[in-house]
Amino acid sequence: MKVLVTGHQGYIGACMVPLLQAAGHEVIGLDSAWFEEQRFGDDRPILLPTVGGDLRDSKVKDLRGFEAVVHLAGLSNDPLGDIDAGLTHEINTVASVRLAEMAKEAGVRRFLFSSSCSTYGAAGDAPLDESADFNPVTPYAVSKVEMEQALAELADDDFSPAYLRNATAYGVSSRLRMDLVLNNLVAWAYTTGKVRLLSDGSPWRPIVHIEDMSRVFLALLEAPREVIHDQAFNVGRSEENFRIRELAEIVAETVPDCELEIAPDAGPDKRSYRVDFSKLESTFPDLDLQWTARRGAQELLDAYRAAGLTFEQFDGPGFKRLGTIQGLIAAGRLDDSLRWT
Ligand SMILES: NC(=O)c1ccc[n+]([C@@H]2O[C@H](COP(=O)([O-])OP(=O)(O)OC[C@H]3O[C@@H](n4cnc5c(N)ncnc54)[C@H](O)[C@@H]3O)[C@@H](O)[C@H]2O)c1
Repeated sequence: MKVLVTGHQGYIGACMVPLLQAAGHEVIGLDSAWFEEQRFGDDRPILLPTVGGDLRDSKVKDLRGFEAVVHLAGLSNDPLGDIDAGLTHEINTVASVRLAEMAKEAGVRRFLFSSSCSTYGAAGDAPLDESADFNPVTPYAVSKVEMEQALAELADDDFSPAYLRNATAYGVSSRLRMDLVLNNLVAWAYTTGKVRLLSDGSPWRPIVHIEDMSRVFLALLEAPREVIHDQAFNVGRSEENFRIRELAEIVAETVPDCELEIAPDAGPDKRSYRVDFSKLESTFPDLDLQWTARRGAQELLDAYRAAGLTFEQFDGPGFKRLGTIQGLIAAGRLDDSLRWT
């Protein structure tokens, strides 16, 4: 298939694009390149033909000829959403809905949207399946809900959107992010000898490796249309729901000689959700998701060791989405609407 992957230069895109290409798909990218200079480990640039840069400037003609769109681009986490909820709305909802409308107009038949389990927001201890109520508690999660709802209205015989509600990602990528829980905990432990909890550790958080996540996107790309049409799928594994403090314990067991520390300013975290992934498992029985938190922690530790990661690198803006963007604004390279100057 000829596939447009938006956000191909991001943390997940850098892992997903080679996987789609290896499966024989022709991949074209679309990315505003905010994180282009950020490299971890494999520091080759991500070379891919593209159709334009900023999603907000896309035109119908950019979408012609594609059989599918995988939509990853956006302001990708809660802290980014909190600096300017208006921008999150503008990019993650308004421009993203327009992209889907243009894709439909251009004759693209399949639109895979990278949504999030954070749409379930503040939930209890019971595992939530795809029929659970949304309860978003951040502008980021609100944008995911709005986009899913808009896509559902566009679904018809010629246009099949699907909503992949991803668990929190982890794993090594050339566009590494340190603001994700497992990546962050292992980096703290490796660079300081302490596993540092920023909340009291009680919230539930399902996690999924970016390679497993990418394999789910590939499965939905190749599945019969009726299987995915207007369907939501929680993306992750039921065994991989953890309380944050359980993740901290796994990290403490993985990284030698480290101790658990609760950050002095640790406050409660409203975001807690435990997720039921059985729909994905029963719809795609051959999808054998392979990663576990323990194996992921070891992978991260090995990569940090190989790269000689220092606390200054880890704690600096380079591997944090919010820090990188704030740095580009402070340097006058991005304006306040996140456009290149
Ligand atoms: N990482 C996770 O834990 C996770 C979990 C659930 C859902 N998701 C979703 O998956 C998607 C990808 O996440 P990620 O972790 O790779 O994020 P990321 O921030 O690493 O990558 C996002 C990419 O989108 C690009 N982008 C942002 N705004 C753009 C615009 N206006 N026009 C063009 N490109 C733009 C950025 O330059 C970046 O390369 C996001 O939509 C995110 O919300 C991520």
